[in-house]
Amino acid sequence: MSKIDTALPHVRAIPPYPPGRPIDDVAREFGLAPATIVKIASNENPLGCSPKVSQALTALASGVNLYPDFDCYELTHALAAANGVEPAQVLPAAGSSEIIQLVARAFLEPGRAAIIPQYSFQAYIGAAMSVGAQGLFVPAQDFAVDLDALLDAVTERTTVLFLASPNNPTGTLIAPDALDRFVDALPEHVLLVIDDAYCEYVEPALRFDSVAALRRRRNLLVMRTFSKIHGLAGLRVGYALGDPDLLGVLRRLQVPFSVSAAAQVAAVAALADTAFAERSRIENAQERARLALELTRRDIAFLPSAGNFLLLHVGAGAELADRLMRQGVIVRPVDGYGLQEWLRVSIGLPAETDRFLAALDEVHAAARQKV
Ligand SMILES: Cc1ncc(COP(=O)(O)O)c(C=O)c1O
Repeated sequence: MSKIDTALPHVRAIPPYPPGRPIDDVAREFGLAPATIVKIASNENPLGCSPKVSQALTALASGVNLYPDFDCYELTHALAAANGVEPAQVLPAAGSSEIIQLVARAFLEPGRAAIIPQYSFQAYIGAAMSVGAQGLFVPAQDFAVDLDALLDAVTERTTVLFLASPNNPTGTLIAPDALDRFVDALPEHVLLVIDDAYCEYVEPALRFDSVAALRRRRNLLVMRTFSKIHGLAGLRVGYALGDPDLLGVLRRLQVPFSVSAAAQVAAVAALADTAFAERSRIENAQERARLALELTRRDIAFLPSAGNFLLLHVGAGAELADRLMRQGVIVRPVDGYGLQEWLRVSIGLPAETDRFLAALDEVHAAARQKV
């Protein structure tokens, strides 16, 4: 009997998470120089991170023999101040991915169900399945989240509902007033998990106030990450905001010291550099608009996006991604989401967008020649 035969059936059934391929990996496979490769596949910040983060990490270098602060005191207090909540309402974690896992382990089991909008971040279904719970997909409407259908799908077995706005991989935004109504309408026995991973990219006037929602609904967890606008994806740090009792439950399941010392000091420094985050938001919006224009010129459809990526309608998505990769441009196929005809492209620096467009034009020109 192989080892895999003894693994739990519901674990074996989990679809593997398909990450964006690392630059070095693609360089090795296709014999390309890493410096010539453009990675616009994982919704990272192309501007890097705040220079204050580098300073904080350098200062930390001599103290790495010590375990990090288990309670993440500095980070927790900085986050509480930044969000206008009490420190007890903040739980730092190793990325929002860790929080998704904690939620599943604390609130799901066989016989319970998590509601997941169609075309949502793949980690939700993986987490639900990992504990033997049902992940119930609710169909989207024109690729956007159908809030009424989510409400209709709730049963007494539903204990968790995941909702991201802007959503990945579609980029769609739920109107703040509609989301407010949803927060109030969702039955109280369901833990609503609002995934704010891309919220800082939203124009302030359109941004949902998830902290205000916390004041109205107890059974609500807000997840945020430092991986996106703050540019710390490589360090793995995010946090949850919620009721202290709810966070206390999640904390019991957390791997001790899951938030490394580097992640803690970097996050504190990143949070303080509001100018960097604001510049990232503005430049992302400008470059997203430019990419949108270039796509329109080429007759390529895409969904309106409030995030740092666009979902393009390209025909055979995985095949195009492969052709682009051979030219040193890494983008993200989304067939794992049932979006075989689409491709997700992160908003890069202008030069990266240009490389993508040039590679795209070359693939299309080669295809025309074949015909
Ligand atoms: C919607 C959404 N939530 C959460 C995450 C995970 O972020 P983290 O790096 O904090 O684990 C991502 C990452 O792509 C995401 O797209």
